[in-house]
Amino acid sequence: MRKPMIAGNWKMCKDVNEAVELANEIKRSVYDVENVEVVICPPFTNLSDVGEMLIESNIGLGAQNCYWKDEGAFTGEVSTGMLKSVGCKYVIIGHSERRQYFGETDETVKFKIKAAIEKGLIPIMCVGETLEERESGKTMDIITAQIKGGLEGFSEDYIDTLVIAYEPIWAIGTGKTATPGQAQEVHAEIRKILSDLYSETFASSTRVLYGGSVKPENIEILMKEEDIDGGLIGGASLKSDSFTDLIKSTASLYAEKKG
Ligand code: 13P
Repeated sequence: MRKPMIAGNWKMCKDVNEAVELANEIKRSVYDVENVEVVICPPFTNLSDVGEMLIESNIGLGAQNCYWKDEGAFTGEVSTGMLKSVGCKYVIIGHSERRQYFGETDETVKFKIKAAIEKGLIPIMCVGETLEERESGKTMDIITAQIKGGLEGFSEDYIDTLVIAYEPIWAIGTGKTATPGQAQEVHAEIRKILSDLYSETFASSTRVLYGGSVKPENIEILMKEEDIDGGLIGGASLKSDSFTDLIKSTASLYAEKKG
């Protein structure tokens, strides 16, 4: 059975003091949760301090982006080796905000996934369609192209740690969550794409998270869907109460599912 993951993407929120305080609150409140992989992804400037705080905790540290070169004259960029050196275990790659505002493409996603894996980081690859694409019936084509493009040339053994996050762009920060049915449909399709590209085993063991206005009020109905393995959380990860609620609900649902 796939272990669920709840990952908080803090985006460009929290200075270092706020970040350390929030991380500390989350750490204290979920110290005894075992069956959910908990990840927090603060801004680059806070990784080192938050990373120190998470040593020997059950929370993993993640970054929100990376560059694919090891070092050199790339002003403003951060390498995967640098992320590793401050304690990161995960890195979000190809978030729709990066694709929309910073020119990220399926090809740069592919380079970044390779750079992450080479340094032993777990890539959380984001895919998702715009409202216009959904309304014109192109959702599955977009998702297929993003997955094929981002994973081009990788064998299934190479990407065996990969996590995929399906985040419909129209649901991000809008309060408009995909219905469990809409999300499940895409998650099932993602597994089918992975099964066609690789194998049934790979498809059924890869975790696929849902992201887009996930809150304590809707996590249960989403998590009950067969192919939803957790969430990539924006707004609701910025407060310890809502984030820890999400983690605890996921933990009890998982225990129920397992019987
Ligand atoms: P919200 O949860 O704020 O909609 O953000 C989702 C997201 O983009 C997480 O990466």
